[in-house]
Formats: sequence, C-alpha cells, structure tokens
Amino acid sequence: MHQTVGRYGYREIRLPTFESTEVFSRGVGEETDIVSKEMYTFEDKGGRSITLRPEGTAGVVRAVLENGLLASSPLPLKSYYIQSCFRYEKAQKGRYREFHQLGIECFGTHEPAADVEVMAVAYDLLVAVGLADVVTLEINAIGCPSCRPVYHEALKQYFSEYRDKLCDTCQVRLDKNPMRILDCKNEACQDIAKNAPVMRDYLCEDCVEHFDKVQKLLQEADMAYVVNPRIVRGLDYYTNTVFEFIAEGVGTQGTVCGGGRYDGLIEQLGGQPTPAVGFGLGLERFLMLLEERGKLPPPPPGPALYAVGIGEAGRAAARRLAARLRTMGLAAETDLADRSVKAQMKAAGRLGAAFTTVLGDDEVAAGKAMLKNMDAGTEVPFELAATDALYDLLTAPVTGA
Ligand code: HAM
Repeated sequence: MHQTVGRYGYREIRLPTFESTEVFSRGVGEETDIVSKEMYTFEDKGGRSITLRPEGTAGVVRAVLENGLLASSPLPLKSYYIQSCFRYEKAQKGRYREFHQLGIECFGTHEPAADVEVMAVAYDLLVAVGLADVVTLEINAIGCPSCRPVYHEALKQYFSEYRDKLCDTCQVRLDKNPMRILDCKNEACQDIAKNAPVMRDYLCEDCVEHFDKVQKLLQEADMAYVVNPRIVRGLDYYTNTVFEFIAEGVGTQGTVCGGGRYDGLIEQLGGQPTPAVGFGLGLERFLMLLEERGKLPPPPPGPALYAVGIGEAGRAAARRLAARLRTMGLAAETDLADRSVKAQMKAAGRLGAAFTTVLGDDEVAAGKAMLKNMDAGTEVPFELAATDALYDLLTAPVTGA
C-alpha cells in the first residue's frame, strides 16, 4: 500500500489517535450516525471533550490547517495515512469497534481528473492483490450546496407520505438528513426508496458537467463502474462525486473502500475554500476478501541464517556472525535461551531459516564452518572471516534466501 500510493505522489501523515470532539462533530456532521451514535467521546482530566477518531479525513484537515501545509506545499497536496479508527457500532463480520483504514486525501484541485485519480489509486491497490474482479466500483453525484437543498426538499416531500411506514431511524432522518433513507438496509424503507426522486434530476449545471467528465475519464482509464443513485455515504462533508468499491463476502457491509469529493470541509473547519477528494479503505475488509479468495500473501520469509552456538566461544562467534550479517542487510538470528544444539536446530526450522551453521570450539579454532541449506539439506564450507563470500552464499538466487 505504501508503494502504490507513493507512486501517485502521496506522502504519509501520522495523526493523533484522538482530537477535540468538535473536529469530528463539525467535520463529519452532527446529524450523521457516526457523530450522533458511534463516537467514543470522553472528558480528559482538564475537562476537555476528546474523541477517538472515527475516521481520518477531519483529522487530516485539522492538521493540514494547523500547520499551514496548504500554503507551504505545492498543490495538489497529497496525504495518506494507515491508522486505527474507532466507532461504537454493533460488531459483526466486517464491522468492528476498532478497525483500520488506509486513507488518501488530495487537496487543492477541483478537476474531475483528481476524482478519477483517487479512484484509480484504490483500483490499483485492488488490482495489485488480485481483487479487481471481486469488487465493483459504484459512483454517484450527490450535488453541492446550491443544488442539494432543493433535492432534500423533494425527498422530504416524497418520504413524508410514507412517514409511518419508515423505520424509526429513517423517521428521524426524514427531518434531519433525508438522503440517508436512500441507503437504509431496512426492507420496507428500501421498497419505499425505490420510487424516490433521484439526485441526478436535481443536479445544477456545474455538478452535471463535473460528473459527466468524471465518467468520461473513467471510461478513458478503462475503469469499469456503475452509477448507483443509492450511494449517499454516511458522512456529511461530501459534495458531488461519491464512490464505493463494493464486494461480496465482507459481511453485510459490502463496502471495502468509500470516498468522494468534499469541497466545503476545509472552509468549514476554518481554512480558505479548498476543494478536496479522497477515500478510506477498510483494512480488515480488504484482508477478509483476500482470505476468502485464497489470495493472502505468503508469510514473510524466515531469517537468512540461524547461527547455532555451542559453548561460550561458539555462542560468541554465532552472535558476531549474526551481527555482521545484519549490518549487511540480512536477517540473522542466534539462540537467546541457552538451548541445546538440537533445540536450536528445531528453532531454526520453526522460524523458517534458509540456512544454518553450527559453531563450536573446533569451528572457532579453525576459522571455518559448514553452511547448511535447510531446504536442500546440502552443506558447503565457509570461512568465518570471509563475510562477503558468506553473503554471496546466503543470497544466491537458487537458495531463495
Ligand atoms: P467510511 O465509508 O466511513 O469513509 O469508511 C471507509 C471504509 O472504512 C469503509 O468502506 C470500510 O471498509 C471501513 N470501515 C468503516 N467502518 C468500519 C467498521 N466499523 N469496521 C470495519 N471497517 C470499517 C470514511 O471514513 C471517510 N473518511 C473516507 C474518505 C476519505 N472520504 C474522503 N476521504
């Protein structure tokens, strides 16, 4: 992930685990489920209200503004993070109270090309691990402050007729955030929502033009997508383009990655008006998909060498050898538990060491020992002082070390 986002020019930002509560209540929106129901909010010893971050975007914007990064960096400013987030949700498959996100945020350009590049980053991540065919990119346009209020009114009018048939949550949404009814999982609400007015018919000219360009660029980039008018996202800051990568097999929560444009958030949090776009990708859901499709990467390789030591001199030589190899960039281990030769060999096997060597008084006196290839079972002699030659033996391609 670090490499893929790095290729697009994203640089890592590390954020505090908690922020002032208002960063999220103002950023994500008081009426959202995240803020109204799901935040871990505490009072600290100084009587300040603090909140464990439920998501990354608001914190990045806070940090970027506080440190004047928009003024001091070439735009667009591209930041990414891999971090834990906390939401007090009903835990189930693919939905946890502490989870992890890779998030990217691109600040300072209104161009549809930025929306599409952000989607391409997520797409590349999924392609890189063989998940491209497993997920569908769904996009939608949810309007801007000039066209969305009209749409809200139309929705309110439509849903008001069915008020009594909506679930309890949606009855509240009807007054505060009617768009959220569109993605309610309740069957009755879904049925009613089927014939609800769609944002597309209410978009202003600018939003239509933007969304058309986004689609043109997606086609140009050969990225398959579906326009889904039901995608509204659960956070208030989005403007116009929103998108989700949806997969089967991550519990009822099919969204592996969600994001969109949020052109108003920076100004709302006290900065100059600055357009922005980004996404958050859930690492647990991503790993779950990999596991289900048998695409989890193999475990990391064991050490290149496990140096077995016998007696004081042998153990000291084993430690010296391991230390030298580490300075040359190889992983090398020795026994730290005063174990027998047999137990040390067993440990080397369990760790998956590519090679082992046994060093005792004789080897130390002769300055020579045998290097054993653990896979092939073959042995070759080497000189303890000739570290370069040993390095070559350990890294020869045939060994797979
Ligand atoms: P979000 O849709 O709330 O967006 O979360 C992004 C992703 O985090 C989801 O698609 C999902 O994979 C994962 N996720 C969310 N909640 C949970 C949970 N309780 N357990 C496991 N995984 C979860 C955001 O957070 C926005 N900040 C994304 C963004 C960045 N938009 C613009 N920039």
